[in-house]
Amino acid sequence: MKVLLLGANGQVGWELQRSLAPVGDVVALGRMGGDGLCGDLARPDELVASVRRVAPDVIVNAAAYTAVDKAESEPDLARAINTEAVRRLAAEAATLGAWLVHYSTDYVFDGSGDHPWREDAATGPLSVYGRSKLEGEEAIRASGCRHLILRTSWVYAARGGNFARTMLRLAAERDRLTVIADQIGAPTGAELIADVSAHALRSALRDDKLSGIYHLAASGETSWHGYARFVIDEARALGLALKVTDIAPIPTSEYPTPARRPLNSRLDTARLRDLFGLALPDWRIGVRRMLREVLQ
Ligand SMILES: NC(=O)c1ccc[n+]([C@@H]2O[C@H](COP(=O)([O-])OP(=O)(O)OC[C@H]3O[C@@H](n4cnc5c(N)ncnc54)[C@H](OP(=O)(O)O)[C@@H]3O)[C@@H](O)[C@H]2O)c1
Repeated sequence: MKVLLLGANGQVGWELQRSLAPVGDVVALGRMGGDGLCGDLARPDELVASVRRVAPDVIVNAAAYTAVDKAESEPDLARAINTEAVRRLAAEAATLGAWLVHYSTDYVFDGSGDHPWREDAATGPLSVYGRSKLEGEEAIRASGCRHLILRTSWVYAARGGNFARTMLRLAAERDRLTVIADQIGAPTGAELIADVSAHALRSALRDDKLSGIYHLAASGETSWHGYARFVIDEARALGLALKVTDIAPIPTSEYPTPARRPLNSRLDTARLRDLFGLALPDWRIGVRRMLREVLQ
């Protein structure tokens, strides 16, 4: 079993290098590629040539243009990476008879209401990034390749920068923090995403009928404000000295950003849990573990 992993140095890609290792021989490429292979989704012709050279049984695409605000001023680049390169990958997967595992986002939804989104709910992206990811999904579905499209939310990892680490830095510097309290979702660890991906892929390789789109997020829900409070309380419990005394909730309207973000980012994960027989732990479990890794 040969697996071609793209985006190997991102939060999810890094963890996939570990979780995919027992699935087969993994050729892991970051944007810079290696061994004469191209891993750059902004160079689709060279990318396709590399896919043909590797001739994988599975392509796992963890690469994406993920700079949500910057995408508003770089729509062509966001679309080239999140839609057009994905279209080319899906076409290659279809030709090779390979599976394509790909990641998408809660930002394909408009964030209305307060019910968790099911996979078949109507989409309505609010941002360039969300639209480019949705069109990537549509390109995969149109290609006819066997696929797992995994929509996830609020990704963090021990490696690299993330919301939790930003909150810890600010909490050490300031007495007061203001954090958005009306966007609701589930912080989801890159480790969990990678582990679930590997388990789901193993099942899918035995059953073509599992090809489809699934929501993959940790259980439970919180706001960015609740997430920040949890991170700061946990860090204090681990002995970190922090200056902050007041963590004030604010509405999204008080924190304007170039890209609009959905208020309701809840994802209904029943389909993934039921069809693959997998459990998704509460979001606090992974965040607590990440903090121990980062702070102890
Ligand atoms: N982060 C989130 O909160 C979130 C939420 C929902 C869904 N998702 C989705 O989950 C997936 C994984 O995201 P992540 O959190 O792991 O993102 P990430 O940490 O930003 O990683 C994305 C990776 O893509 C790479 N990349 C960017 N442009 C590229 C290009 N032209 N060619 C090749 N690689 C390129 C980046 O490489 P460089 O390091 O060289 O820039 C980076 O390693 C993505 O599909 C994303 O849309 C993420």
